[in-house]
Amino acid sequence: MAEFRLPANSRIRKGRHFSAPAGASNTRQFAIYRYDPDSAENPSIDTYEVDLDSCGPMVLDALIKIKNEIDPTLTFRRSCREGICGSCAMNIDGGNTLACTRAIDASPGEVRIYPLPHMPVVKDLVPDLTNFYAQYAAIKPWLQTTTPAPDKHERLQSKEDQELIDEPAACILCACCSTSCPSYWWNSDKYLGPAALLAAYRWLVDSRDEARDERLDALDDSFKLYRCHTIMNCTQTCPKHLNPARAIAETKKMLAKRRI
Ligand code: SF4
Ligand code: SF4
Ligand code: FES
Repeated sequence: MAEFRLPANSRIRKGRHFSAPAGASNTRQFAIYRYDPDSAENPSIDTYEVDLDSCGPMVLDALIKIKNEIDPTLTFRRSCREGICGSCAMNIDGGNTLACTRAIDASPGEVRIYPLPHMPVVKDLVPDLTNFYAQYAAIKPWLQTTTPAPDKHERLQSKEDQELIDEPAACILCACCSTSCPSYWWNSDKYLGPAALLAAYRWLVDSRDEARDERLDALDDSFKLYRCHTIMNCTQTCPKHLNPARAIAETKKMLAKRRI
């Protein structure tokens, strides 16, 4: 997993410490970023000692235990608990990943948990993904056709053509990749980022779609697509083992071929 150490930030305060319950012998400390933009306080790092003998094996299990049993004010997103919904994406020990599929034992000692980097924070570990979703919507993630649909069956494609969309369609929109991308950090208002570009690629290679040229026209922009400098953080960090960097490179090749 790619490691993105957050810069030391003197505005982050040392927060509260919650000790393990008396008698607990198998404990682990979790250092968790806390921030409430509605308060006048700067962010802090709270530390929680968790009894692992009464906790599930994943980082999300520990977060749920902390919220249920130690500190109900801790805020984070989660839903499926199975690596499917993407909502528990956060920065754990310097890497963006899913809390529900990250084992506590993958951390050598204290588990350090921050929200996804370089995003506005709604509260604690919850980033504001408004711009991220708007960028996804901007690539028009739906089938576009001009020819009428067949009468008696769906629009068909070969097994080989279907396999082209298998990988990009497996994206769960967790935002781990885009928020690991330095180009996206600095230009997220104009650069679409690896997640939206992987989604765009999924429709570019769909043999049933009839808007390929329009889709390429929309991407042919020095910021939207070409701010990718093939740094590869996106592919390294993707918890679903997808390869947005390759999809971006293939999209650039499609545009280059059109120009010949
Ligand atoms: S390969 Fe492109 S999209 Fe991926 S991290 Fe690098 S610059 Fe960002
Ligand atoms: S490509 Fe991977 S890291 Fe990026 S949004 Fe999709 S699943 Fe998450
Ligand atoms: S809770 Fe759904 S991916 Fe983690």
